[in-house]
Amino acid sequence: MAQRETWTSRIGFIFAAVGSAVGLGNIWSFPFQTAANGGAAFLVVYLLAVFLIGFPTMMVEFVIGRRGEQNPIASFGKIGYGNWSFTGGLGLFSSLITLSFYSVVGGWVLSYILGSATGAYFGDAGAYFGSVASGPTAIGGHLVFMVLTIGIVASGVTDGIERATKVMIPGVLLLLVALAGWATTLDGAAEGYSYYLSPDFGVIASNFGSIVPPAMGQAFFTLSLGFSVMIAYSSYLGRDDSLPADGGAIVVVNTLIALLAGFVVFPILFATGGAEGAGGGAGTAFVALAGAFGSLPAGGIIGFFFFAVLLFAALSSSISLLEVPVSYVSENYGYKRSTTAVAMGGLIAVIGVPATFGTSWLGFYNDLVFKLLLPISVLLLAVFVGWVADREAVDELGRGSSVGESFTSAWLWWVRLVVPVAVIVTLYLGVEALYTGLASGAYF
Ligand code: TRP
Repeated sequence: MAQRETWTSRIGFIFAAVGSAVGLGNIWSFPFQTAANGGAAFLVVYLLAVFLIGFPTMMVEFVIGRRGEQNPIASFGKIGYGNWSFTGGLGLFSSLITLSFYSVVGGWVLSYILGSATGAYFGDAGAYFGSVASGPTAIGGHLVFMVLTIGIVASGVTDGIERATKVMIPGVLLLLVALAGWATTLDGAAEGYSYYLSPDFGVIASNFGSIVPPAMGQAFFTLSLGFSVMIAYSSYLGRDDSLPADGGAIVVVNTLIALLAGFVVFPILFATGGAEGAGGGAGTAFVALAGAFGSLPAGGIIGFFFFAVLLFAALSSSISLLEVPVSYVSENYGYKRSTTAVAMGGLIAVIGVPATFGTSWLGFYNDLVFKLLLPISVLLLAVFVGWVADREAVDELGRGSSVGESFTSAWLWWVRLVVPVAVIVTLYLGVEALYTGLASGAYF
């Protein structure tokens, strides 16, 4: 067998992983989930979920990938007994379902690029969201976004996009810092910060059941965990890279970008009427940001630039959502890559159409992934590495890194016990919420 390629540099791997992690999850989903679930109370649980459960889970995927050194399905067979490859398959399946509604939101971004150029959202940002988030415009945007994604994956130019992302991500960061600075001057800023940042522990305690599933789901989603993508990426890592150090860098950068988005969105929301108004739902970030651009001098230009950058961040995520399953199928079943991309992408485009019917339909797709598919995947991953995988695989964590034996065993026991228990609680609460939502007709 030919020598397997590896990343040409450690930075190359980190950038690819950050490109996958940073996306609509940070700038759309994070502020929206935070606004909808009580602000600071959500933030606290989310940060705990990212660092205490997300980071160790990222190490789980890295260990499987680098030790397995194969595609994310075959890797499971190489490092433990029994047939656990369905876990990798579930991740690929979740990627496709996620792409189906991610693309709908990507379509909104396209509408906002257009709206920045024409000034269509300057008058009434809430009404503009209503007019593009569902119906024919939403279907159009979704299809254009899918065509872009399929085109890039089918033609194999994903490298170009990834290179562009390296420039774009610092761009997102700078723009968010500038906007956050400006947002400090707003009238509602103090109230916004307090909603966002001062947790009421009583609120956390009494809403525990409704906060934990979205917070945990958001942590997995934003770090691209449970999708097999981190397994795929880390399978190309060199032996002397430090998994904890690389993972730590990815988690920190990704978290910073989400937090910054909150520092922009919450002051604006409270300057324009509070978290309940347009704020509580899927439109939170779009309405707040567009409202801000509409009121700024040269806001159309800033808006255009901002949403263009967001489009790149979204595309670098969407191509990886499609790319990983397409590579698997085309490499293992011998189909042409371009044909596979068109067939899978076309199917996903169709599956996504109902998510354009209204934000509650989109919410169903979102909840299906956040509350059901991701916790199941992560539970399987943790049980596999914690209890089934061979010791060699577990020791992969410390290879190339300065962490000692005791770090590895602390992590192992954490993955054996804490992660599964936390995820089982999440899953129980999430499934209950999903069921209640369906029974009460909250979705459709
Ligand atoms: N993390 C991405 C975001 O926050 C979304 C995402 C989830 C993703 N799973 C993925 C991207 C898998 C690429 C591959 O927007």
